[in-house]
Amino acid sequence: MKSEARLFNIEEFDIKLDTEFLGRNFVYCDEVESTNKLLLESKEFNQNGTVILAEFQSGGRGRKNRQWVSNSGQNLTFSILLKDFTHGKKINLFNLAASLAVAHSIENLYQLKVELKWPNDVLIKNKKAAGILLESISKGNKIEKLVVGIGVNVNQTNFQNKFDISPTSIRKEFKEIVSRERLLSEILNNYESLLKVIKYEPEKILTDWKAKCKMIGEKVKITDYTSVKYGIFDDIDQNGFLILKTGDKFEKIHFGDVSLR
Ligand code: BTN
Repeated sequence: MKSEARLFNIEEFDIKLDTEFLGRNFVYCDEVESTNKLLLESKEFNQNGTVILAEFQSGGRGRKNRQWVSNSGQNLTFSILLKDFTHGKKINLFNLAASLAVAHSIENLYQLKVELKWPNDVLIKNKKAAGILLESISKGNKIEKLVVGIGVNVNQTNFQNKFDISPTSIRKEFKEIVSRERLLSEILNNYESLLKVIKYEPEKILTDWKAKCKMIGEKVKITDYTSVKYGIFDDIDQNGFLILKTGDKFEKIHFGDVSLR
């Protein structure tokens, strides 16, 4: 742990929390394997809107079976539990909305310009400041548990591991130590508002998300576990999936990493 790491102050967070249900059941842990895993498996922490924050994850999960590595006490690694709804194909909107909530929060609090990369990377100056991992348990078309896991690089300034995209942190870009408590409350406030937007005007999530994604219209490469595809990032569809244009063919992409070529 670096000397500037400091324990999360729950009161400071709570004063700025302005939600009806997100984070009202707040679980603070020193160390867990993964906050996503804990919420998915827990019978104890099972209330809609529960948020689990850990100072350190020994097995933090990233997309595509990657690891999410984050210094103890310097960043935000947390998961949100959403329960009992039947949004079916719209599930990816929860992903896009989460990246928008993080982007709006960083822009509002620190006046930094934030861009988004499909499906849900949050970038500052083309470097990754936050990532999101959605995991769920479903029965039929009913989602019993949707876990939205968010990792934000807040005050960490050195990154030693290997990364798919170069990392940065808010502190590195803002040049000052940042309050994790204020940032977390802002993210939850924004995300709860966006959950209402998903329900009543889902197309607004897509419009706002697209306005922050600079890759649309560009030549891209899409890599998943088994294949690499090339084409033009034409658009995202109404469910938040990427539409890749190759020649005069359009293909829907549900999963993968996008990079410019
Ligand atoms: C990615 O960009 O690959 C997604 C990273 C998601 C990391 C967060 S940290 C909190 C939550 N718990 C996990 O194990 N992963 C997510």
